Amino acid sequence: MSAFTLVNHLDQGYLRDALAADARTAFTAEHKWLPPKWFYDAEGSALFTKITQLPEYYPTRRELAILRARGAEVAAATGAETLVELGSGTSDKTEWLLSELSTAGTLRTYVPVDVDAGTLTSAAHRLIATYQDLSVYAVCADFEVHLKSLVGVPPGEATGRRLVAFLGGTIGNLTPAARAAFLAGLRATMAPGDGFLLGADLVKDPRRLVAAYDDAAGVTAEFNRNVLRVLNRELRAGFEPEAFEHVAIWDEENEWIEMRLRAMRDMTVGVEDLDLAVSFAEGEEMRTEISAKFRRAGLEDELRRASFTPAAWYTDPAGDFALSLSFA
Ligand code: SAH
Ligand code: TRP
Repeated sequence: MSAFTLVNHLDQGYLRDALAADARTAFTAEHKWLPPKWFYDAEGSALFTKITQLPEYYPTRRELAILRARGAEVAAATGAETLVELGSGTSDKTEWLLSELSTAGTLRTYVPVDVDAGTLTSAAHRLIATYQDLSVYAVCADFEVHLKSLVGVPPGEATGRRLVAFLGGTIGNLTPAARAAFLAGLRATMAPGDGFLLGADLVKDPRRLVAAYDDAAGVTAEFNRNVLRVLNRELRAGFEPEAFEHVAIWDEENEWIEMRLRAMRDMTVGVEDLDLAVSFAEGEEMRTEISAKFRRAGLEDELRRASFTPAAWYTDPAGDFALSLSFA
């Protein structure tokens, strides 16, 4: 019998307060910037799903191809009873892991973790309908804040072997310092022998990278501007999203794509709930997202520094994307 539980660490008050604090820091800094988790309200998640289907956005298709080819190997190597997935979104690609772990006969529980409760809930309902014996313990939480609350989940069950999956290249959305803290924090929640499957987009021709974050149909531009709509709704801000232009550039030195919103004219934007008036000069840019691209040696070093032991490195035939499997 399948079962479904949803635990929410992000009630409306928490989310709003966290957004308010981030926005205040962001708008009073010399260089304005916003943390990326605020993209993902219902509209943002729907726009991201559209991004994954764009011809320019190769990461989702590449990662799916790797999971299809190597899912059985990952299942055999990890023997996981519990699959924890951070930033699970629609859990579409995860089905390949779930089915391989089910076939291997070890899987009992899936623990998807995401900031967007709506997407999390609909994914969970879809999965329990498909996998009759699976129990889904969904956790609405911030993986930069609530990792500790994933220890001992699901409660009341013997802690079997775990596999933590972090797909989609989302690791690249963290700055190097945040990444080191995240990896060390995650490792601290895991027991020896637990697996960590990490999806990472790889360094490649900058033209292809930029196109993936600046598509011809303008979906990524809408996704980027959506963060302004979130601010308007949650903090009673007065942004005109159309007055900001989407910018995606390849930062050669840091090897990351940087997304920005550029003010197309001088303006002052009121943020009522923060009692703040934010001025933008024409051409001023606000950083909204980085998406770091990786090389094998660098990523495996980062994993080792966080006390993981890299065990396997899988790529697609074109060498665009990688799945790294390591153990705690
Ligand atoms: N894993 C999916 C989705 C990737 S998009 C895929 O590979 O296609 C990134 C996902 O991470 C979104 O669903 C977003 O809501 C979630 N997310 C972003 N920041 C987060 C955070 N700090 N804590 C938890 N989830 C987060
Ligand atoms: N994890 C995804 C990535 O870095 C998220 C993403 C895709 C994204 N396109 C975006 C984030 C555009 C902000 C803007 O590839």
